[in-house]
Amino acid sequence: MSEGNCPAPQHIAIIMDGNGRWAKKRHQPRFMGHRAGVKAVEDIVAHCVKLDVAVLSLFAFSSENWRRPSKEVSLLMELFALALKQQVKKLQKNNIRLQIIGDLDRFSAGLQKQIKQAQELTKNNTGLTINVAANYGGRWDITQSVKQLAEKVK
Ligand code: FPP
Repeated sequence: MSEGNCPAPQHIAIIMDGNGRWAKKRHQPRFMGHRAGVKAVEDIVAHCVKLDVAVLSLFAFSSENWRRPSKEVSLLMELFALALKQQVKKLQKNNIRLQIIGDLDRFSAGLQKQIKQAQELTKNNTGLTINVAANYGGRWDITQSVKQLAEKVK
C-alpha cells in the first residue's frame, strides 16, 4: 500500500511540456526550463520508486520537435546525453529499467550508443520501468507495429 493508504497507479504517463513557459515566467532562457524539466523528472522517478509504480512513460521529444530552432534542438540533445551519462549508474543502483522508444536513427551515433548501453545495462532490472519517448510519433508507432506484424505473417 502506498502513501495515504491509496494504491499507487501501475502506469503513469507524462508529456514533458511547459518548460519554455516555466522559464519565461522567471525571465530565464528556454534552456533553463528544459534543465528544470530534467530535474523535475528526477523527483518524479524518486516518488515512483517510493510508491512502487510499475511503469513511468515520459513523452520527452516528439518527431515534430525537430522543427524547433537548431540551437534549441542541439541543446536538448546535449541535455539528453548528459542526463543519460549522469543517471545511468543511479538507475542501475535502484533496479530501474530504462527503455527509449521512438525512431532512434535520427539521433547522433554517439547518443545512439549511449542509449543502447543504458538499455543493455538496465534491461534485467525488475523495479520501475521508465519509457522515454524520443523522436516518437503516432504515425511512426503505427508503421512499426504494422511492419512487425507483416514480419510475423511472413
Ligand atoms: C516541451 O516544453 C519539452 C520539450 C520539447 C523537451 C523536454 C525534454 C527534455 C528536457 C530532455 C531532453 C530529452 C530528449 C529526449 C531530447 P516546451 O518547450 O514545449 O515548453 P512550452 O510549451 O512552455 O513552450
